[in-house]
Amino acid sequence: MLREIKKLEEKQKLSYKELDTIFSGYLNKKIDDDEMTKVLKLICKNGLSEEETINLTDIFINSGAKFPMNISFVDKHSTGGVGDKTTLIVLPILASLGVRISKMSGKALGYTGGTIDKLNSIGVKTNLTKKEFYTAIDKTNMVISSQTENLCPMDKKVYALRDVTGTTKSIPLIAASIMSKKIASGAGKILIDIKVGKGALIENKKQAMELAALMIKIGKKYDRKVICMLTRMDNPLGDNVGNKIEVQEVIDILKNKKKGNLTNLCVEMATLMYTLTKDISKEKARSMVKEVLNNGEAYKKFESYVKLEGGSLEDIDTECADLVSLKSGYIKSINSRVIGETSMLLGAGRVKKTDSINYDAGVVLVKNVGSKVKKGDVICKLYGKSINYDPVYKAFSYSKLKPSIKGIIINVVE
Ligand code: URA
Repeated sequence: MLREIKKLEEKQKLSYKELDTIFSGYLNKKIDDDEMTKVLKLICKNGLSEEETINLTDIFINSGAKFPMNISFVDKHSTGGVGDKTTLIVLPILASLGVRISKMSGKALGYTGGTIDKLNSIGVKTNLTKKEFYTAIDKTNMVISSQTENLCPMDKKVYALRDVTGTTKSIPLIAASIMSKKIASGAGKILIDIKVGKGALIENKKQAMELAALMIKIGKKYDRKVICMLTRMDNPLGDNVGNKIEVQEVIDILKNKKKGNLTNLCVEMATLMYTLTKDISKEKARSMVKEVLNNGEAYKKFESYVKLEGGSLEDIDTECADLVSLKSGYIKSINSRVIGETSMLLGAGRVKKTDSINYDAGVVLVKNVGSKVKKGDVICKLYGKSINYDPVYKAFSYSKLKPSIKGIIINVVE
């Protein structure tokens, strides 16, 4: 066994060089998956010091291409949730307010969705050339592209292994993974949405506060302003989980036809991101964000972006199965992980990176948390392959009394 791995096993601190020996060794195939799994499991169990986490972030950054820091480049990142379509709402809002905003996004893996698949599902091109990237920004103020292959390749390889070895839930590993990508992409100001709850990597507020403090500290080391929002992920975000059907919900929100947790989250996220780009109070920023939703400017921006990149916003029309409630009462909670997994099994997601997906598949929650239902009412619609419905029924829990609905935002840390 490598001396450095032995040190980790003995709970000794590793220097920059020692961490680099392990992680670069993995990237360069000198360390195999089994040995690296051992390393990741040790880190999950024993943690890393703040200094080691900052060093690991730097090692990830230096493993690939780096863009120079651009102080006016504001970026966002989410730790991953079910039904999270905020990028597709927040970017057009900001673009319609005159903010030039670009975002590199990922594909769906496991039970969480990916922005790239959602855009591809309506024909929007996302593998853009440099010229197309800048044309989009110049014409619409916004652009969403697939992550370039050479940005933090070490994180990419480690993350893929974490995903299949049960080593995703480590605060230092999450911090280094997210911050390396944001810093390498050149963002000067970064908003991070830390999802907290049953359907998320982070299960409680204490862990989320720890992660937020760590990412803010890493940001400071690199002169980046970081704001962390802690938001609930016990229930799916919004009503639609899939690809095309999520875009449908995006359209409803951008047309100001839908209120609720998802809309509230997007308004707050856009507000905070706007204050990062402009010397403006939160109140003023919030009212401007609401105005572009009210007057249709944000929707028009999304529509023009979709058209520019070859997409279409026509309605979807696919076969679906209706699931009816087996009980009467109020819906108290909906297990987001089960809904995410259902959506994946219906064909909307990937079990393996190489799986192809059905863009029409997914779950629409006809009744959501707080809804009163009678036995026999349709509670959700399932689009895609036929599957075993039993787990889906179990995702819904009921109460006799109307449950109190908690606000989506738990805390904002800066
Ligand atoms: N998102 C990332 O990019 N990395 C993590 O480790 C977790 C969420």
